[in-house]
Amino acid sequence: MFKHVSFIPYATFKKDISIILITADQLKNRSFNFTDKDLSRSLIGLFESKIFTGDPGQTYPLALNKRFFLLVSLGAQKDITSTSLKILIKNSLLSPNLKDAKNIELICHDQKGSTIKCAIEGALLGTYSWNKYKSKTVDKNNIDEKNLYIISTKNKDLESNITICESTNFTRDLVNDNADFITSAFLEKTILSLVKGRKNISVEILNKKELKAKGLNLLLGVNQGSNKEPKLIIVKYTGSDKKDKYTALVGKGITFDSGGLNLKPTGSIETMREDMGGAAAVIGTLKNALALKIKKNIIFAVGLAENAIGSGSQKPGDVVISYSKKSVEIANTDAEGRLVLADAISYIIKNYEPERLINIATLTGACVIALGYDYSGLISNDDILTKNILKSSIETDDRAWHLPNYPELKDSVKSNIADIKNLGFPKGIAGTLTAAEFLRQFVGDTKWAHIDIAGTAFVEGTSRMYYGHGATGAGVRLLTNYLQNN
Ligand code: BES
Ligand code: MN
Ligand code: ZN
Repeated sequence: MFKHVSFIPYATFKKDISIILITADQLKNRSFNFTDKDLSRSLIGLFESKIFTGDPGQTYPLALNKRFFLLVSLGAQKDITSTSLKILIKNSLLSPNLKDAKNIELICHDQKGSTIKCAIEGALLGTYSWNKYKSKTVDKNNIDEKNLYIISTKNKDLESNITICESTNFTRDLVNDNADFITSAFLEKTILSLVKGRKNISVEILNKKELKAKGLNLLLGVNQGSNKEPKLIIVKYTGSDKKDKYTALVGKGITFDSGGLNLKPTGSIETMREDMGGAAAVIGTLKNALALKIKKNIIFAVGLAENAIGSGSQKPGDVVISYSKKSVEIANTDAEGRLVLADAISYIIKNYEPERLINIATLTGACVIALGYDYSGLISNDDILTKNILKSSIETDDRAWHLPNYPELKDSVKSNIADIKNLGFPKGIAGTLTAAEFLRQFVGDTKWAHIDIAGTAFVEGTSRMYYGHGATGAGVRLLTNYLQNN
């Protein structure tokens, strides 16, 4: 990430390099008017001689009177999407031409707020990379030593966008680091340091002792094979008139998901430090609420456990009495997320009575099969909540897609030995829907939405959209936008 990102009203052409984004239409119509006439002349010349053709993604480094430019073509205006724009901005900022540039100026093809927002996200989300454990000399770009100047008039919205990207990257750091470093104790410290000194905050922390005393046995059961403390951490944020009802956000925080005795195989287990991605998204959203002083009453909650394997681990076939008193057959110890969430949800609904509750979780591999990597799954019992979350999803490009929930699904989680079981239809069939149905049975009449980020939270290859390898911070922009607007 850049050392510093700021806005300046006019291009100076005096930084180490100026990146110039330009559409094919502008090139064709010569509809650019740089104060620097040599620059305009060069652009025309390069275009007419078919050296710089205007194809999307084409770049051309240019030296003019001891100033340096990187020309970047965006292709035809009609084909530019916010995603394609962010990808091109990311790529241009990571271009080898910028290797030694410390101060970089970015001049977009227009000055629309939506365009500048793409510049911010392309720059801050696009150049993020997880390199904490890479030695300095090997394969480490020095982007964190660079300053970026985006040509735009400053405004509060754009400043907020920077904050939101920074919190997204904060979430990515939490997800990317080792599972034995990002423990429940570490996340507790992280949350406490975020809220330190704030007056409108109260925090409730349930550790093993309190969880036992209150009967959150599903959460305890998941953590049973672990040497680390299970925790339910609840931050009450009062950003508006105290009489307003609360919106609750609840994140799945499995610091490592081995699968338990239903152990995950090679090929599925390697990235399971990401299984606290829902909790990390809630923490990133909390950071935003604090920084942006969002005027809403919000409960930020994370259910933290480690799904470890050992002789003390919970056994398939066990029946556990949940906090809600429903008995649950543990049909598969790898379906642990819904167990942690069920207890967290029931506890929050009973003790905090939120008006609506949104949970976010890397819940099911089935969601990756259904929707792939670019859309989170959204399931809800309330049409207005669904509509507003989808609206935020479109506005932020933190994408979600609506999946169904319907009464007949309740048969899928019926158990022979308990009230409900933590497994749905035989393997491969609608696993995202049945996991959500399990959760729904713990929400009662509360308005509820569930966001499954199993596919979106983490990139296993080198890149996807404008994200590099590793955590994406899925959910932070979506939830923040939702809270800002509802
Ligand atoms: N954490 C996993 C889901 C997951 C899969 C997250 C891939 C990210 C990437 C979850 O706890 C899990 O193991 N789910 C099982 C449920 C099954 C046993 C019913 C799954 O999806 O296979
Ligand atoms: Mn699991
Ligand atoms: Zn899991």
